[in-house]
Amino acid sequence: MQLDFTEKLILPNISNLHQLSVYEENGGYQAIRKAFTMQPDAVTNEVKQSNLRGRGGACFPTGLKWTFMPKSTTADKQTEKPKYLCCNADESEPGTFKDRQIIEFNPHLLIEGILCAAYAMGIKSTYIYIRGEYYKWYKILQNAVEEAYAKNYIGEKIFGTEFSTDIVVHRGAGAYICGEESALMNSVEGKRGYPRVKPPFPAAFGLWGCPTTINNVETLCNVPHIINRGWEWFSKIGSPKHPGTILLGVSGHVNKPGVYEFPTGILLSDLIYEVCGGIPGNKKIKAVIPGGSSTMWIRGEEIDGVRMDAESLKTVGTSIGTGGVIVMDEDTDVIKVLSRIAHFYHHESCGQCTPCREGTGWMEKILHNFESSEATLEDIDLLLDVANNIEGNTICALGDAAAWPVQSVIKKFRGEFERRVRKSPKVSSSIKPPHLVFAHATP
Ligand SMILES: Cc1cc2nc3c(=O)[nH]c(=O)nc-3n(C[C@H](O)[C@H](O)[C@H](O)COP(=O)(O)O)c2cc1C
Ligand code: SF4
Repeated sequence: MQLDFTEKLILPNISNLHQLSVYEENGGYQAIRKAFTMQPDAVTNEVKQSNLRGRGGACFPTGLKWTFMPKSTTADKQTEKPKYLCCNADESEPGTFKDRQIIEFNPHLLIEGILCAAYAMGIKSTYIYIRGEYYKWYKILQNAVEEAYAKNYIGEKIFGTEFSTDIVVHRGAGAYICGEESALMNSVEGKRGYPRVKPPFPAAFGLWGCPTTINNVETLCNVPHIINRGWEWFSKIGSPKHPGTILLGVSGHVNKPGVYEFPTGILLSDLIYEVCGGIPGNKKIKAVIPGGSSTMWIRGEEIDGVRMDAESLKTVGTSIGTGGVIVMDEDTDVIKVLSRIAHFYHHESCGQCTPCREGTGWMEKILHNFESSEATLEDIDLLLDVANNIEGNTICALGDAAAWPVQSVIKKFRGEFERRVRKSPKVSSSIKPPHLVFAHATP
């Protein structure tokens, strides 16, 4: 067992840390003071060298993303366009519930992370986009923002410097797609949450056509620690290619579900058996979804030696996603679970691209047929074909997110589908598609 790291950076065990006074007593708002003594580029460089990777799902290097932000939007100060930061607190991925823990227990760390990022990129306005259902957490966050405004930690000439920046908390209306960065920006602009075709990328054409950077809550919370203690210190925590601590939200068939913070690279088996107290009834593990509903499943037998970091999970064909680990015991009906997931993606598809709009519904229908024992053996390959035709053919990654679980479950549990068909009392023909080739997405 390798659970030697005791320090929690993002969720330390300090009572009432959500209060500004307590946050300050524990070293809060020192990082932004330090950042103000540095050149903005030096702040970005520190984050870049730390190798911090985004915690919102795609693992993109944070410092590199910040360098895409233009320093100036025009040579002429009079026509200078604003630049924006969006903090993504939409957190709608099934199995993911870590950002709300941060907001509840350490909201000033997020505000300080935003201030460091805004200073580094010369940003005067930040929107924190929080999902509508998170009303309790919205109130906590809003309260923290007001506390920080009252002490002039946000607003005009912060700490008596020339730097001014605002933070607005913006509530979404509960659509998963609004967590996708370009849909999020449309939503902030008051439009329907439709993803935009990329390029142009947000750093070139973001909110209201102005340069914009989008970062996840947990990502930004790492920044004050990097500034306080330096990139070298950070880069040595956990896995070298994916350093730092990470919040892992574990749910499903474990004795102690919850959000846990550990250095990246903790063994998945240690997380399940040591941290989460194993499986109820000492049952075997059938499957694990390591990073939220959109990540590829792995079989119980595969978890030995797998570590919770981007590189290690790649070796078993999956990814860390949002760190939302879902554990399923040996009695789980994987087809039923997959069917529920398929229903979610069909329901949440924004409908702009044919492969996603039609394909997600089609996959759901075929899976329902398996559940009700009306599917045929050919339907296994039909299901796979539909998933393969969605993947890579859509405007945004929701299409891929819908296809990956289906592809991986067929790959890893084909026998379950076959058994379900053989057990079936009636082998009727299932939905026959008019054709299998989708048109490509049109903008
Ligand atoms: C359908 C969809 C939903 C997403 N939902 C979220 C979300 O709720 N929170 C989040 O941080 N990123 C979400 N993302 C990823 C964002 O588009 C973006 O990559 C991320 O916020 C960038 O932050 P990071 O670089 O700090 O990880 C989603 C992506 C897709 C395709
Ligand atoms: S992939 Fe789906 S959710 Fe994304 S833009 Fe296309 S239809 Fe909308």
